[in-house]
Amino acid sequence: MVITARKALRVFVIPFLMINVLLSFVFVRYFDISGGYGNRVLKYSPGQNLVEETRVIRESKWLAHLCPKYRINTNASLDIVTWTPLQEDVIFFVKTTCQTKLSAREACAVESAIHHHPQHLVVLFTASPTITRTHPVMKILLKMDNFRVSWLDLDEVFSEDPLLSWHRDRLWMLSGDRTPAVLNDAVRTELLHRYGGTYVDLDAIILKSLPNITNWMARVDDRLITSAVSRFRPGHPMLKEITQSIPRVYAPSSCCSIGPELFTQRLIERCPENITQPTSTQPEYFEFCQDMTIFPRKLFYPIHYGYKSTELESIFTEGLGLGPAFFKQQEAYSLHLYHSLSNKRDIDLKSDSIVAEAAKRNCPMIYKALKAQNRRSQ
Ligand SMILES: *[C@@H]1O[C@H](CO)[C@@H](O)[C@H](O)[C@H]1NC(C)=O
Ligand SMILES: *[C@@H]1O[C@H](CO)[C@@H](O)[C@H](O)[C@H]1NC(C)=O
Ligand SMILES: *[C@@H]1O[C@H](CO)[C@@H](O)[C@H](O)[C@H]1NC(C)=O
Repeated sequence: MVITARKALRVFVIPFLMINVLLSFVFVRYFDISGGYGNRVLKYSPGQNLVEETRVIRESKWLAHLCPKYRINTNASLDIVTWTPLQEDVIFFVKTTCQTKLSAREACAVESAIHHHPQHLVVLFTASPTITRTHPVMKILLKMDNFRVSWLDLDEVFSEDPLLSWHRDRLWMLSGDRTPAVLNDAVRTELLHRYGGTYVDLDAIILKSLPNITNWMARVDDRLITSAVSRFRPGHPMLKEITQSIPRVYAPSSCCSIGPELFTQRLIERCPENITQPTSTQPEYFEFCQDMTIFPRKLFYPIHYGYKSTELESIFTEGLGLGPAFFKQQEAYSLHLYHSLSNKRDIDLKSDSIVAEAAKRNCPMIYKALKAQNRRSQ
């Protein structure tokens, strides 16, 4: 049998190319690997068979411990999100509670980061391996090109000792109600250490593009420096030291053994001349420690804890025009809403409060959707 070149082309090469084109279309379409950043999001609608993908979730023992009430709701339109290691220089958020959606306040924080960094990838890590894609605020965020969701698989995050044994023995469960906060401290430090990037708390509204230098944190009051909004290069030695020391210094009954206290302590040890407790630096000055920059309080926590409670309340005060006044003279990069204060409140978007004004300026899509929703419910 003689196979001519033309025949070979017709019989083998063309079908081969067609199958390739088809396959790559299928992959790009359904597994979202087109952006280079391989977050595989599997879409499910009610009635579909979830067997293989849900097996992984059902066998994840830590999930049953952190989120005992979590069930995959096969009646809802869900996205199953998979663990994806961070790429270089990403802005990321970490949700260590078990809901499948963000609150409006958290969604505003995420949108504000996207809004001020259109060229950056913004990633949300969620402890829940599914998200409700039909929820109004999730729908808005999922439409944004530079936004991804990744499962916060704790077995992946804590894959190296000593955090591995700390996690395997479930020592974090000893913190009771404070477990999500404790996990958040440990997760952010390990992710920043391993991959580098910018970490942002889910209760921080970003007000402008973040500083373009690496290795920074900010002072929150005259005692503490915090990583609540911070940026590091991968493998930073101070973060390595902190992640190594977490299992040793973790005190389950104390509120904050591995959070800002630990960061501040390590900075004092490294740079005793520059970093003291309480600080000897004037509030408006920068502090430096080796290759790290500590921004003054006013640039990240212009209204903050440890102040008169009336001042913290001012974030939500209505009817005094505080919102427009605050932004007239504002140079801060972010505004913290302090979860413990803000999660119990309904925020009136028609008001002139600082939080309403911050939302209007920095998370315009979420703001618009909430306003429309308010109108409908009136
Ligand atoms: C799913 O739908 C069925 C029938 O409509 C209902 O009985 C069941 O409670 C629903 N399950 C959940 C988890 O909502
Ligand atoms: C930030 O710095 C990097 C390198 O130092 C540079 O490539 C990048 O363009 C800068 N981005 C902005 C927004 O200035
Ligand atoms: C302490 O701060 C000064 C600037 O205020 C800086 O030049 C110096 O390098 C810092 N010391 C250390 C150990 O980082």
